[in-house]
Amino acid sequence: MHTTPAPGNLVLTRHPLIEHKLSIARDRATPTKLFKELVEEIAMLMAYEAMSDLALESVDVETPLESMRGWRVSGKKLTLVPVLRAGLGMVEGVLRLVPSARVGHIGMYRDHDTLEPVDYYFKVPGDVGERQFFVLDPMLATGGSGAAAVSSLKRAGAQRIRFLCIVAAPAGVQRMYRTHPDVPVYAAALDRELNAQSYIVPGLGDAGDRMFGTR
Ligand code: PRP
Ligand code: URA
Repeated sequence: MHTTPAPGNLVLTRHPLIEHKLSIARDRATPTKLFKELVEEIAMLMAYEAMSDLALESVDVETPLESMRGWRVSGKKLTLVPVLRAGLGMVEGVLRLVPSARVGHIGMYRDHDTLEPVDYYFKVPGDVGERQFFVLDPMLATGGSGAAAVSSLKRAGAQRIRFLCIVAAPAGVQRMYRTHPDVPVYAAALDRELNAQSYIVPGLGDAGDRMFGTR
């Protein structure tokens, strides 16, 4: 895994397995079941990088042979916050790495006409100020939904937030940076642009529809 320096707050997580899986996910012929599996696996690989600087504390360990000092993750309680619907597809992958993380939910959809985010649900665990949040949403297009999700978390008192998406567009990265310069954005790919309907191109289409077989 290596990260590529990118504009503003963007961290591109580069790895051959991510590139391979993402190309299959992008393919319009990839069926729903496989698409879901790929999103989950890519999210897991990305989380490995996005959590590479987690604080550790030392701990005593008894191996079958002797005592030693080992390490365990310490510090802020980890909290995953998928943006409904498509972000749900990333949760299980990240939980495979950090099974004790809590999961909040933010309900948000992009109005087809105005393209502005409409929020309809917000639920996160208590003691918000003590938590490290990872917002999950496969697509960062105009950035409206992502920026609004982060704003909701901040209104609730969150101070440490990272945003994980699979495909980002330059406009979305810029909007996140303008609105939340303190929030690192991790992405597996930075695509070329948005089309006239503000879909990411080349992109992977409508992530929620592809994940849940709707449309
Ligand atoms: C998609 C995606 C993001 C948003 C990105 O959700 O999962 O939340 O669009 O677009 P933006 O950056 O321009 O705001 P969508 O609104 O399609 O809702 P859904 O997941 O319920 O289908
Ligand atoms: N939402 C999606 O699911 N895909 C896009 O390309 C843009 C927004």
